[in-house]
Amino acid sequence: LELLDESIPEPRRTQNRATEEHPTANVPQPFENTPDTDPALPANRAWGRDILSRVEASVLGVAGVAQTTLTSEAELDAVLADARQNAPAWAGLGGAARAVILNRAADRLAERRADLLEVMASETGKTLDQADPEVSEAIDFARFYAELAPELDHVDGATFVPAGLTVVSPPWNFPVAIPAGSTLAALAAGSSVVIKPAPQAARCGAVLVEALWQAGVPREVLKLVNVDEQQLGRQLIADPRVDRVILTGAFETAELFRSFRPDLPLLAETSGKNAIIVTPSADFDLAVKDVVSSAFGHAGQKCSAASLVILVGSAASSERFNNQLVDAVRALKVGYPADPTTQMGPIIEPAGGKLLDALTTLQPGEHWAVEPKQLDESGRLWSAGLRTGVARGSQFHLTEYFGPVLGIMTAATIEEAIAIQNEVDYGLTAGLHSLDPEELRLWLDTVQAGNLYVNRGTTGAIVRRQPFGGWKKSAVGAGTKAGGPNYLVGLGAWLPAETTD
Ligand code: ALA
Repeated sequence: LELLDESIPEPRRTQNRATEEHPTANVPQPFENTPDTDPALPANRAWGRDILSRVEASVLGVAGVAQTTLTSEAELDAVLADARQNAPAWAGLGGAARAVILNRAADRLAERRADLLEVMASETGKTLDQADPEVSEAIDFARFYAELAPELDHVDGATFVPAGLTVVSPPWNFPVAIPAGSTLAALAAGSSVVIKPAPQAARCGAVLVEALWQAGVPREVLKLVNVDEQQLGRQLIADPRVDRVILTGAFETAELFRSFRPDLPLLAETSGKNAIIVTPSADFDLAVKDVVSSAFGHAGQKCSAASLVILVGSAASSERFNNQLVDAVRALKVGYPADPTTQMGPIIEPAGGKLLDALTTLQPGEHWAVEPKQLDESGRLWSAGLRTGVARGSQFHLTEYFGPVLGIMTAATIEEAIAIQNEVDYGLTAGLHSLDPEELRLWLDTVQAGNLYVNRGTTGAIVRRQPFGGWKKSAVGAGTKAGGPNYLVGLGAWLPAETTD
């Protein structure tokens, strides 16, 4: 392996100023999350406008920061051969040495924040306020997995054996944070990685990989391919040299991958149909703010997005809550990310299929509180929609749409609301807005979702504080959560020490 230099310095440690004043210097230091860019500071707003001026120049989906070409069959074969061959050397470096490179990756990602924001906005239409936390999350993944990696070297009586060559198949909706998280985890845990970005976000994948190479991740163990999902994509997933696939995408994609190769070792975070319950005890102002940001952030195109709000008892007839929600949805300024006043950007592709249906068609008993409108010829720009009267068991209750439309349901009791929340096939995120401890206890005991949020929105899990993962049809083959303390150990196996001598 060609490492960046021979003398690898000590890993960078998290500073804790308090340790100098208190006799607790040996207490493990808390992990510090990377702050997002604060738009309240004029200098940051100027910095953001500068980035957006380049986005304007490059227009959505046209020439940009990084160019990508499709990988040929021969190139794919060579990539897999090389990544497989170099996996043992990367594993052999040990977790502590890999951690040093991961910390450098964190620094490099921080240095390239502006480039990453520009490519996300240009290529996928993400607004800066949505793209910026992705970079912070990617940096956090690098630093957090760097903290965990050395632990894999030191367990009495057992040896950690990395999974090996890992294919990372990320989605387009988090085109930096998710590929970064999966890749950095696999690298930290000693595997080589082939990333296959989503075709809609190929340039985001290219800039990310370039940053990781610049940081010293060897090119022999981190590879980028751009393949058509049905042709070479199938070949990539089915290739027996691939030891593990980390997928973030639709549940159907996980099933497709399994159909390509039935014995595929797959770790997949899949779809969601997520609801926030609002009870009469809730802080309605906070609930409105969190429901709107969870439903319409990135135009609702997040697996974690809230697509339903379930109003309990008198909350359903609260004029204050309902009027505020309608006003807030109506007030959302929709546009392209190059305009700094845009609050909700475009959807990734012209609306079609079930999403178009959800934006244009009501089911019996439903009404538009705010009707979504197509705002330009592209088919990608839609104003936010709010439908009321969504019935239990209806299509809108049970289907994931991945777009800017929120449905309101009602329940007589919190028990009924939880039953509605649990009735979907998925179990990714769930929210509760309540100030009643009894309601909270009942909800925590019975709700079926991987990530539970109380008096907070359902999107934007924070590395280490909110390890992220699904339940039911929101996960396939997954046992541990991304950004959590056990994630790396799920990317390999522990063998008794003597069997690996
Ligand atoms: N990790 C992403 C979120 O929490 C999906 O919104």
